[in-house]
Amino acid sequence: MSHADDHAGTRRDFLYYATAGAGAVATGAAVWPLVNQMNPSADVQALSAIFVDVSGVETGTQLTVKWRGKPVFIRRRTEDEIADARAVNVEDLEIDKFAQNANLPDDASAADENRALDEAGEWLVMIGVCTHLGCVPIGNGAGDFGGWFCPCHGSHYDTSGRIRRGPAPRNLDIPVAQFTDETTILLG
Ligand code: FES
Repeated sequence: MSHADDHAGTRRDFLYYATAGAGAVATGAAVWPLVNQMNPSADVQALSAIFVDVSGVETGTQLTVKWRGKPVFIRRRTEDEIADARAVNVEDLEIDKFAQNANLPDDASAADENRALDEAGEWLVMIGVCTHLGCVPIGNGAGDFGGWFCPCHGSHYDTSGRIRRGPAPRNLDIPVAQFTDETTILLG
């Protein structure tokens, strides 16, 4: 991890690299401390942008990195996952019809094309915090819709991270993100 210089009084961000090895954090059903979201410490706030090397992420696997005190899921989807996500008619989404993508307007629809990071839909980047009460959902095809499942109270998310069943009120949030080259994603 290397920190850029930060000058007092400027808004210059700290940047650091998270690699598949060093940046991964455990996934599971643990409750993510809500205090991290509501009252982040100064050093967490300072990490407002990070570069993530995704060159080691195989198709059908997920890398989890910590960003601004929260887990971020970076999944490289299989063709089947992409096809399942794109076969869904937005009108059939009963809980949340919006993309919840910080890179798009608030009223963008929850079509998978509005949630995937790249046009082909191979990469899906989401905040890994259940929108119900903040648990970290289980991935790798979990749940009744083949995406993520939050066992805390039974929320099922599909392969696009959209809430399909359970008490969660909103699709998994998509953070500000972009590719800066073929194997590097900038969060923030
Ligand atoms: S926190 Fe995920 S279902 Fe309640």
